Amino acid sequence: MRIAINTGGGDAPGLNAAIRSATLAALKRGWEVFGIKNGYGSVYTEKPFMKMDEESVRGITLLGGTILGTANRGNPFEMPYKKEDGTKGLKDVSDHLVDKFNEYNIDALVAIGGDGSMHIAHKLTQKGIKIVGVPKTIDNDLWGCDVTLGFDTARSIATEAIDRITTTAESHERLMVVEVMGRYAGWIALYSGLASTADVILIPEIPFSYDSIVKKIEERRSKGKNYTMIVVAEGAKPEGGEIVTKGKTLGQQEQLGGIASQVAHELSERTGQESRSVVLGHLQRGGSPTTYDRLISMRYGASAIRCVENGDFNELVVLQDNKLTTIPLSEVAGKMKYVPLDSDVVQTARDVGICLGD
Ligand code: F6P
Repeated sequence: MRIAINTGGGDAPGLNAAIRSATLAALKRGWEVFGIKNGYGSVYTEKPFMKMDEESVRGITLLGGTILGTANRGNPFEMPYKKEDGTKGLKDVSDHLVDKFNEYNIDALVAIGGDGSMHIAHKLTQKGIKIVGVPKTIDNDLWGCDVTLGFDTARSIATEAIDRITTTAESHERLMVVEVMGRYAGWIALYSGLASTADVILIPEIPFSYDSIVKKIEERRSKGKNYTMIVVAEGAKPEGGEIVTKGKTLGQQEQLGGIASQVAHELSERTGQESRSVVLGHLQRGGSPTTYDRLISMRYGASAIRCVENGDFNELVVLQDNKLTTIPLSEVAGKMKYVPLDSDVVQTARDVGICLGD
């Protein structure tokens, strides 16, 4: 048996732990393992596959990033390229990818990625590639999966950052607005905001009203609390407003970001209080994974190999109700997992007095 491993989309802490466990579990079965370098876009390079052995995965569990490399422009069905006239276009190189797999006699692919990668994986299965998916994204928005690898580290880093910003907010009696990642879902904002006892948490699932935030700020002031910590997800938007974006590069997803400075400015105008905004950005994605992320990544990686062994292809390994199971890639493709507004976490935030902007 010869398997390939691909890491696609934005990196996430825990990827290396998953690569290592999948590699070791496959080698233990006497299989050969090939890592795809820098995502599917490498099909044009002379050597897109990197032969993996025990040595290639030694000591990588604690490392952030991915030893294989990844790319946000790695969709083989829409690969950006430069046309003869110098302009850019997209082309379908998926047949070329399939040819490469055949050339290397790859029997199965372990595709580690988020919603975009699973969508691609599903389409590749329709071209005959046998795939097992592993759920990865700091955003935790993969449908059908309770926890994606990378999420725990991102929320922990965000929590620590918000804790630190809280002390300076208090000293200066400022409104501090901290923007966290998460795309169109509020998982990172909700969990890190709750854990760091933020006063206001704004998530994409609840369009916010400035009046409601101002009310919270005034309520705090009336109790002598002259600072307010506001955590805003990059995908949050005011009622009747739009998500703030920085545009879109051909072949990539739209880039979100910029809501924190807008919120900080607007709240300053309305309250007369000094404000500052901080964008945590890629800090949330880099560095060593937490213990939880290392463990879940290892479990996902090894479990993917057991699926290959059992012939359970075109499935995504997921954690549901604290148990590992699989769901068909066809069910996941094109869907997203949002924060359920009736969840106990949302309820807990409300119960402890956090303003969710509504
Ligand atoms: O999907 C993971 C993520 O970190 C999002 O939270 C964020 O919007 C995006 O990727 C940033 O992507 P890039 O690395 O292309 O800036």
